[in-house]
Amino acid sequence: MSEIILQKEIIKLKRNKDITILAHYYQPIQIQEVADYLGDSLGLSRLAKEKVNTQYIIFAGVDFMAETASILNQDKHILIPNYESCCPMAAYLTAEMVKEYKEKYPGIPAIVYVNSTAAVKAESDICCTSSNAVRIVEKMSKTLGTDQVLFGPDAHLADYAEQKSGIKTIKMPPNGNCYVHSQITVEDIENIKMEYPKAKLLVHPECKREVRNLADFVGSTAQMYNYVKRSPHQENSFIIGTEIGLLERMRIDFPKKQFILAKEKLICYNMKKHNLELIKYLLENPEDKNFEIKVAPDIAKRAYKPIQKMLDFS
Ligand code: 13P
Ligand code: SF4
Repeated sequence: MSEIILQKEIIKLKRNKDITILAHYYQPIQIQEVADYLGDSLGLSRLAKEKVNTQYIIFAGVDFMAETASILNQDKHILIPNYESCCPMAAYLTAEMVKEYKEKYPGIPAIVYVNSTAAVKAESDICCTSSNAVRIVEKMSKTLGTDQVLFGPDAHLADYAEQKSGIKTIKMPPNGNCYVHSQITVEDIENIKMEYPKAKLLVHPECKREVRNLADFVGSTAQMYNYVKRSPHQENSFIIGTEIGLLERMRIDFPKKQFILAKEKLICYNMKKHNLELIKYLLENPEDKNFEIKVAPDIAKRAYKPIQKMLDFS
């Protein structure tokens, strides 16, 4: 079946079902087009909790995002089109490691990036996303009166929060990173800037410090989107230092502006594991338990608090 026919079928099926489709900006554009809501990881968590009224949510994103939605919405059914869609960064940090860091640094709050497992979140004091990491570090340090915090698993986001807040982040572990963002080098940026000298450079905080330092703007996917949306008419070209899905979205939404990827193949293959066939199947079979994300109740209960605390602080 062609993609256009599949999209039409999905839109038709959605009308009569108690289902909402949420999609992250990194999803294939065909999926973004059939979603009810698009967003970054913070926006989607909030939406799932505060705005979605349906019993079923199809979550087109990686597993930690669907898990977060499930933890926040124990009464709803969270479905993921492909179970293999997971974020490899989460594997850098285990619950055991968080416990060890906390023992080694008593009294220091453990801040865990949402790109982590539910078990890791359950051991944390608070969660954060790329859009609120700086604020959460500042708030926790102020509330607890500490001049340092534990932060994991992304060492680059930890470094960004440290750079912006002036508060030391002890990285759990020292080398956690995202394979998509950490591949961008200063040389890549210098080359692309030579070709497009007037373009503004927008990068995700998961990029390395030396790359971030060259940027005109550093922010989450939704923050980059909003930067472009609010940019003046004469600012019309942007180099995008994040996954290609966001660039594809912006090319459609802002056709008068030019978007250039910071380097070739900035693709999160883990995000691209969903497809329209799987979404159609879930709309037809929402009760198929093989696709439902369920976090063990004891872990969900403990992970709920740091996620909710993050939402309260954001
Ligand atoms: P956002 O918080 O910008 O959605 O980013 C999530 C992510 O996985 C970035 O790689
Ligand atoms: Fe994980 Fe990186 Fe993919 Fe984001 S882009 S989901 S951090 S692997």
